[in-house]
Amino acid sequence: MIIAGNFKTNHTRTSTLAYARELDSLLEHSTSEVFIFPPLSSVPYNEFNHLQIGVQNAYCTRSGAFSGEVGLEQLEELKIKSVLVGHSERRGLFKEDYRLCLQKFEFFTDAGLQVFFCIGEDLQTKESGKTQEFLASQLEGLNLDCANLIIAYEPIWAIGTGKSATLEEIGITHQFLKSCGVKTLLYGGSVNTDNAKEIMSVESVDGVLVGGASLKVQDFYEIIQQGGKK
Ligand code: PGA
Repeated sequence: MIIAGNFKTNHTRTSTLAYARELDSLLEHSTSEVFIFPPLSSVPYNEFNHLQIGVQNAYCTRSGAFSGEVGLEQLEELKIKSVLVGHSERRGLFKEDYRLCLQKFEFFTDAGLQVFFCIGEDLQTKESGKTQEFLASQLEGLNLDCANLIIAYEPIWAIGTGKSATLEEIGITHQFLKSCGVKTLLYGGSVNTDNAKEIMSVESVDGVLVGGASLKVQDFYEIIQQGGKK
């Protein structure tokens, strides 16, 4: 299982470090691959024994004049090997379009980083029955055979709402995405300590991307334990 926590704009540098140290020590016997994605100002060196640290955003450049962004040079210094691309909050609030997400995917995978590429439909798309068509369009141009690509399916209507997709919905959509050629596929959207086990038991689910329920280390660890050995 791949189990990733997206802190969004939560946790400070101090609290992130304490969290990471505690979680890393808890993970000694874990068989899952565990990641956290703290805010950029809180990102510690990625040199824990079991836990991996990634970033929620970066720009597709080594360095240069891109105010407010970080590039590969800054990530390399921190030994960061994983980056989230295309989270719905970045697409929606910060207007990152399809083209930019694709550029980021290409740039960071070419540089040898692992890209967690997020896709997901909004409520209107779901209700109009166009989910699969929409998701297929979000995959266009991605090299799905790239070993460093992890797709996270996160229906926007399930993010931060406390209402995850049903197991049936997850199963159907994940099967569809796998039939499109997606190799490694996470589910995200209101995953918590109450539903993580059953979500991770769905056959086509290779892991979860957790927002709110990753903020407390004990909750996140409970979710990791629920991932078992798959
Ligand atoms: P949530 O967020 O778990 O708080 O719904 C998931 C995400 O946005 O990755």
